[in-house]
Amino acid sequence: MYNQKVIDTFSNPKNVGELPDANGIGMVGSAECGDIMKIYLKIENDVIVDCKFQTFGCAAAIASSSVATEMLKGMTVEQALKLTNKQVVEELEGLPPQKIHCSVLAEEAIKAAIEDYKSKNNK
Ligand code: FES
Repeated sequence: MYNQKVIDTFSNPKNVGELPDANGIGMVGSAECGDIMKIYLKIENDVIVDCKFQTFGCAAAIASSSVATEMLKGMTVEQALKLTNKQVVEELEGLPPQKIHCSVLAEEAIKAAIEDYKSKNNK
């Protein structure tokens, strides 16, 4: 069902774990499957300098979290807000249709983390 890129990413995901000095944290759940994704961002001068994730979900959700967190590093907050699940799917070289919602979790978790950052920093 999964392509090699997804399998490789799921087998060796990057940026797994908590980020103790995160200043933006977003957690979302999928109504469709009940899986949960949490993304931690460390933002300095409006640039994402570090990020990590904890995903309690399927292989596609874990692979999506891994590539999304890789893509986020070095982005400005505004650029990160524009990151779509479509870009995450492209980075994974495709996901099966029934697994697209897993990539949507990544987009939503990023937006939630940025909202958290903005609310804590009066932005
Ligand atoms: Fe729902 Fe993958 S099956 S996140």
